[in-house]
Parts: sequence; structure tokens; C-alpha cells
Amino acid sequence: MNSSSIPQMGLGTFGRTGDAGIEALLTAIEVGYRHIDTAQSYDTESSVGAAIRRSGLPRGDFFVTTKVADTNLDKASFMPSVEKSLETLGMDRVDLLLIHWPSQHDQVPFEHYMLALAEAKAKGFARLIGVSNFPIADLERTRALLGEGAIATDQVEIHPYLQSPKLRDFSRSRSLTLTAYQPLYKGKVNDDPVLRKIGASHGVSAAAAGLAFLMQEGHVVIPASSSRANLDGNFAALKVRLSEDEMNRIRALDRGLRHINPTKSPRWDD
Ligand SMILES: NC(=O)c1ccc[n+]([C@@H]2O[C@H](COP(=O)([O-])OP(=O)(O)OC[C@H]3O[C@@H](n4cnc5c(N)ncnc54)[C@H](OP(=O)(O)O)[C@@H]3O)[C@@H](O)[C@H]2O)c1
Repeated sequence: MNSSSIPQMGLGTFGRTGDAGIEALLTAIEVGYRHIDTAQSYDTESSVGAAIRRSGLPRGDFFVTTKVADTNLDKASFMPSVEKSLETLGMDRVDLLLIHWPSQHDQVPFEHYMLALAEAKAKGFARLIGVSNFPIADLERTRALLGEGAIATDQVEIHPYLQSPKLRDFSRSRSLTLTAYQPLYKGKVNDDPVLRKIGASHGVSAAAAGLAFLMQEGHVVIPASSSRANLDGNFAALKVRLSEDEMNRIRALDRGLRHINPTKSPRWDD
């Protein structure tokens, strides 16, 4: 595994709690997933740690991401929350530590938590650092504060129905990788007729065609599933190479459809 890069195919863990969550994770590991995405707020950090230990594979085979919750951004809570995450995961460090959401209206000053994020990396708690749900304005602030190339990714909602062209183009211009969360629009892309047709011509599902599209656009993807068939089918996206014509037909599916938009959201770019 290249130490500075994020495996393009990852696994979401939202909702995969308790014993059922551990079983789903073990199935995913059997299928081949090694990049696992959790967060302080998902209650899946313990399942992720347990599944990795039970797999019998070395910790170094995995790429584990967690995220600092927006309730832990203040100076007093930040570092203890990271230490608690590591304890819950049963790990010395994570591969990637993200700010889950920027603090709404800068209730916690931006510099406080972004410098704490950099400090967590300096302390060895994280190999790479990044952000989530950051619009361009906050990415610009990040660059001004931490310098070019300090963060490895911005994890945002992206799927064939929400392609975020402004953020995509900005990120490309800065060589910043976007991680597409909810890349299947909660499984709904698997019902899409255009994706189904393209998938069928490659011998994969519509969902896999959608994931292949996102990866070919340069994004990391983190689909979630508890079903072996879907885990397998989604993983098969790694083998697909879409033509430019197929890419354009999927690009045309963009309709700015955003699913995750809580009141704490920043002003989105598109
Ligand atoms: N940073 C953030 O703010 C943020 C926000 C949301 C999510 N995330 C991360 O992104 C991950 C993915 O997002 P998500 O879990 O919300 O949504 P998703 O990955 O788009 O969709 C997951 C849902 O789709 C179903 N599914 C999976 N593969 C399928 C397939 N091939 N065909 C049909 N249905 C399929 C799954 O059900 P089955 O179990 O039945 O397969 C599950 O209900 C999360 O788990 C989390 O790690 C991050």
C-alpha cells in the first residue's frame, strides 16, 4: 500500500453496529475490502477494531479512517476524543483522521480544530489527515492555515446524481482527492436504467457501474453493505474500465440531488 495514498475502494460502516456489524465487516474483509471508514458518531469504531482483529490479518494490511465529531472540535475535547477513538478501535493510530463537519458559523474557531488535527498527526495518532463536508471556502482556509498538500482528502456526498462539478474541478486543480460518501445514494443507483445497461455490458450491476464511474473520475468510494452479494458486486467495480462515451452518459445523470443536508451543513458549492 502506497503510504501517501488512500485505497480507492473503501467500505462504509454507518449503521453496521454490534455483532451484526462485525459479521458484515468480516464478510467484507473476506471479499477483499481493506479500507474501512468509521467515525466517532457511528458507534462502529469498536466493531471495526474487533473485525480487524478477528480477521487474523495484520493491522498493516488495513487502511482505517475515523472522524472527529462536530461536538468534539473544541480545544478541551479534541485530543481526548482522538485518544478515545484509538482506544475503542484498539489501535495505536489510524491511517486517516478527518474533521467530520466544519464548526457551524465558526462556533469553534476554525484554527483551533484544524491546528489540533495537524497536532494529532504530529503526535503519531494519524498517518494522514483530512476533512469532510468542507466546501471550497473551507478548503481555501485549510490551505492558508496548514499549507498546500497538508490534507489527503475531503470526504463529501458524491454519487451519479450529485457530481458536484465545482468542488470536483477545484479539487482537481489542487490535486486533492475527494472521497465519495453515500456513493450509491443509499442503494438507489442500482435501480438506474442507464447504469443498469452500462453495467450489463461489463457483466456487473448498475451499482458497480456507478462506483466504477466515480473511481474513474478520480474519487475514492466508500459504499456500505451487509449483504455478501452486494459487497461482492460492489467490489467488482474495481475491474471495470468505462469508455469515454459511457462516462459521458453517466455524467449526464447529475441532477444535484443531495441527500445529507442537516442544519449544521455549510453553504455547499453545488
Ligand atoms: N462524512 C459524512 O458526513 C458521511 C455521511 C454519510 C455517509 N458517510 C460514510 O459513507 C458510507 C456510505 O454511505 P451510506 O452507507 O449512507 O450509503 P450508500 O453506501 O450509498 O448505500 C448503502 C445502502 O445501499 C445498499 N446497497 C449497497 N450495495 C448495494 C447494491 N449493490 N445494490 C443495492 N443496494 C445496495 C445497502 O444495503 P445492503 O446492506 O442491503 O446491501 C445500504 O442500505 C457510510 O457508511 C459512511 O461510512 C459519511
